[in-house]
Amino acid sequence: MAEKDLPFDIESIVNKALEELNGMDRDADLEKWRLKYFGRKGIFADLTGSIPKIEQSLRPIAGTKINSAKRQLNAAFEEKKKRVSCGVEANSEIKMNFTLSGLKPDYGSLHPITLVSREIVRIFHGLGFGVHTGPEIETDFYNFEALNMPVDHPARDMWDTFYLDSKRKILLRTHTSPVQIRVLEKLPVPLRIIAIGKTFRRDAFDASHSPVFHQVEGLMVGYDITFSNLKAVLAFFLRELFGPEIKIRFLPSYFPFTEPSAEISISCVICGGKGCQTCAWSGWLEILGAGMVHPEVFRKSGLKDPRLTGFAFGAGIDRIAMIKYRIDDIRHLSFNDIRFLNQFR
Ligand code: PHE
Repeated sequence: MAEKDLPFDIESIVNKALEELNGMDRDADLEKWRLKYFGRKGIFADLTGSIPKIEQSLRPIAGTKINSAKRQLNAAFEEKKKRVSCGVEANSEIKMNFTLSGLKPDYGSLHPITLVSREIVRIFHGLGFGVHTGPEIETDFYNFEALNMPVDHPARDMWDTFYLDSKRKILLRTHTSPVQIRVLEKLPVPLRIIAIGKTFRRDAFDASHSPVFHQVEGLMVGYDITFSNLKAVLAFFLRELFGPEIKIRFLPSYFPFTEPSAEISISCVICGGKGCQTCAWSGWLEILGAGMVHPEVFRKSGLKDPRLTGFAFGAGIDRIAMIKYRIDDIRHLSFNDIRFLNQFR
């Protein structure tokens, strides 16, 4: 006994079924076809029902044959159904409305912090500054000690710090100034670099404070760098960033790692210096801290040449973005509201 002795010719059943299916282009015909072959009283139900009547040794062969035929036809049926329902078949009823307007692809946009950071990099690239980064998790040495703030130095209170260990040796950097030390340790002088990145402070999260924000640090070191260079570089930078019409003001200030130190403001871009809410009716917006690198900073970085001088500065990028784009609440920068972000295309 062998295949040829089966009481049915499965091949010709399959061929006939495929042929019928092939000519169809309407859902209703497909359904008829399905019932004819796979319905409760369909051809395959009959075939399966006939197995017990077949000679014992042929039953497994019959079962396998029937199953693989079913699988083949099912696959062909599903494929055909898809083609008919999307109207690819010659006479199929059209299921698609070709007059509907299409879906607009949704484009992303660059975050305002990214836009401002790129602009800053562009300006300083033009002045020959390289771009560097440092770790967001810092040690007490780089964040404070090497910046001339030994343990218990009162100036440490200027930065409310997130410590990561109970000994207070590891922390989230409170400013980008530790990159100054890392760069001085690594690069040959003379050098000029900026560093952009995230900074962290244990501040309230309100309209003007955020525990996570961004800074740009600048450092230029050489043998003939003076306060005039600092003024020239920062004036150029601020006019490129905010427009040539702004006024720039230097006031004396204090940072442990610069001497002398300055705080730098621009005339208010909202009111032009007349006084408004944004500038607290002062006409000025404070934008940068800066100064001449303190000799102790060189010493802590391992640079002993007494002829070395340099300047450093630091600015908040979130604040710059808020001024540039008239954003009234720093929280908009991290809430990821698509209606806000969509404006920066
Ligand atoms: N690191 C200072 C701050 O966060 C800013 C600064 C940088 C001041 C470099 C002077 C020189 O407030």
